[in-house]
Amino acid sequence: MKLQDKRVLLTGATGGIGKEVAKALAEQGASLVLVARRLAQLEELRALLPNSERHHVLALDLTQSCDMESLNEYARGCIDGQRIDIVINNAGHNQFDLLSRRSAQSVSQEIQLNLTVPILVAQSALQWINRPGIILNVGSTLGGIGYPGYSAYCAAKSGLYRFSEALNRELDGTGIQVLYLAPRTTDTSLNTESVRRMNQALGNHCDDAKCVAQHFIQVLEKEVSVLWIGWPEKLFVRINQLLPAVVSNAIRKQQETIHHFIRQMHKNV
Ligand SMILES: NC(=O)c1ccc[n+]([C@@H]2O[C@H](COP(=O)([O-])OP(=O)(O)OC[C@H]3O[C@@H](n4cnc5c(N)ncnc54)[C@H](OP(=O)(O)O)[C@@H]3O)[C@@H](O)[C@H]2O)c1
Repeated sequence: MKLQDKRVLLTGATGGIGKEVAKALAEQGASLVLVARRLAQLEELRALLPNSERHHVLALDLTQSCDMESLNEYARGCIDGQRIDIVINNAGHNQFDLLSRRSAQSVSQEIQLNLTVPILVAQSALQWINRPGIILNVGSTLGGIGYPGYSAYCAAKSGLYRFSEALNRELDGTGIQVLYLAPRTTDTSLNTESVRRMNQALGNHCDDAKCVAQHFIQVLEKEVSVLWIGWPEKLFVRINQLLPAVVSNAIRKQQETIHHFIRQMHKNV
């Protein structure tokens, strides 16, 4: 899809990846509806974008049903003017820790923001999105590989992957496509200092958010159904589907380092 003059609703717009995606989309000539909870950050971002007067901000907590209703009302209101052509479900959060150490509340919040919210946004978008239209769900490499310390996040992102696949098939021929883009570790504040140090110790790649944003542009322009960013992550995701024991063995060798950083994290609290 050509992005020039398209209207894009972007959640998680003020985050490390969201900001770069907003800039890249605005540079392509898209007009944006930027969504996150904090209004000041949203306004600051809008002011930075080319043609700032063309963009709108919505300060909403997507885990609150009344805010979800406000999002729907806003989007339905666009039907008489310029409809929304693209929805990017990018808001997300995770907490690196052992499941046994986490509160039930933090686990359900993580599932809600990373899985339930994008499903509900997609469901409501079916009422108001333009045709042709695109719903792009932002997953993670961890949606393709179960990884220690991230069990709930892996569950949510892999659920989002299957949801995207199923809805894309359900909507076949309707003019609406549902795409899934899975970044690997990216340099944003989503990753705490302990996680950064652990990734360094494990030799994990860490992408720059600007480069990740270019993948968003590519996926939307070329209408790619699924993109796993980066080697060897892309390969590991495939091996994990075919020969999960091979990936389990590789992760077993990392266990000591992973547990070391989890222990350190709790010592520092
Ligand atoms: N960074 C990585 O290593 C990495 C790797 C793979 C996948 N991803 C995925 O990429 C996406 C973006 O990640 P990121 O690194 O940019 O995260 P981030 O920097 O932590 O940004 C998160 C964004 O979500 C918004 N948000 C959080 N809770 C919200 C809520 N309840 N309602 C509405 N907005 C909310 C935040 O703004 P407010 O706080 O103002 O609401 C912020 O704009 C996520 O889906 C993440 O899972 C990230």
